[in-house]
Amino acid sequence: MEHKGFTLWFTGLSGSGKSAIADDVAKILVHRKMKVERLDGDIVRQSLTKDLGFSKEDRDKNIERVTFVAKLLSRNGVATLVSFISPYREKRDAVRSVIDNFIEVYAKCQLEVLIERDIKGLYKKALNGEIENFTGVSDPYEEPEYPEIVVETDKESLEESVSKVIRWLETNGYVPPACEEEEFITEIEEEEIKKRLETLGYL
Ligand SMILES: Nc1ncnc2c1ncn2[C@@H]1O[C@H](COP(=O)(O)OP(=O)(O)OP(=O)(O)O)[C@@H](O)[C@H]1O
Ligand SMILES: [Mg+2]
Repeated sequence: MEHKGFTLWFTGLSGSGKSAIADDVAKILVHRKMKVERLDGDIVRQSLTKDLGFSKEDRDKNIERVTFVAKLLSRNGVATLVSFISPYREKRDAVRSVIDNFIEVYAKCQLEVLIERDIKGLYKKALNGEIENFTGVSDPYEEPEYPEIVVETDKESLEESVSKVIRWLETNGYVPPACEEEEFITEIEEEEIKKRLETLGYL
C-alpha cells in the first residue's frame, strides 16, 4: 500500500527534545515500511543552509529553504520529519499554508529544566552573554497556538512523547497501526522468527 506523505514539524527551544523524539519516531516509521527522511537543524545548518546565521532574517531564510525540500518530499509520499527551533509563529504558519499534511509538534519544556539539562552547554554560554540571539534567553520564542501535538518533555519520558506522536499519526490515518507485539520485536528477533518458521516449514 502506498502511504500518503506528510511533514511532521517539530518546534521548541534548544534541548526541548525535537531531535531525540524525531529520531525515535523515524525508526518506528521505517520499521512500519514507510519512506522516511529527516531534516534536522544541526545537519541542515552544516550543508543546505551553512551560509546562514541566527538573525531573524537568516532564521526565516533557513526555514524557507527547508520548507521547499519538505514540500517536495511530503508530496511524494515521504514521511518527512523536520526539527528546527523555528521560533517565529508567523513563519511556521506560512509553512503550514504551503505544505499539505503539515503536522506541528510542539516540544514544550520549561526553561529552568532546559538550563538544568544544558546538553550542548549553550544555555550556560548564552546566560553568560557569550552567545547572541539565543532563543529563550536573548531571542524570542513564540509558542504555537494550535499545534496538532504537544509533548511536554519536562513531564514525560522520551518513550511517552514518542508514543504520543505515533498514536496521533495512527489515529489520523497517516500511519498503519502496528500489531500489539510489533514495536517490541527487533529486526534481529524478526530474522530469528523467520528462520524458525522456515525450519518448521511454514514459510
Ligand atoms: N520526553 C522527552 N522527549 C524528548 N527528549 C527528552 C524527554 N525527556 C528527556 N529528554 C532528553 O532531553 C534531551 C533533548 O535533546 P535534543 O537534542 O533532542 O533537543 P533539541 O530540541 O533537538 O535541541 P536543539 O534545538 O538544540 O537541537 C535529550 O537528552 C533527551 O534524552
Ligand atoms: Mg536538535
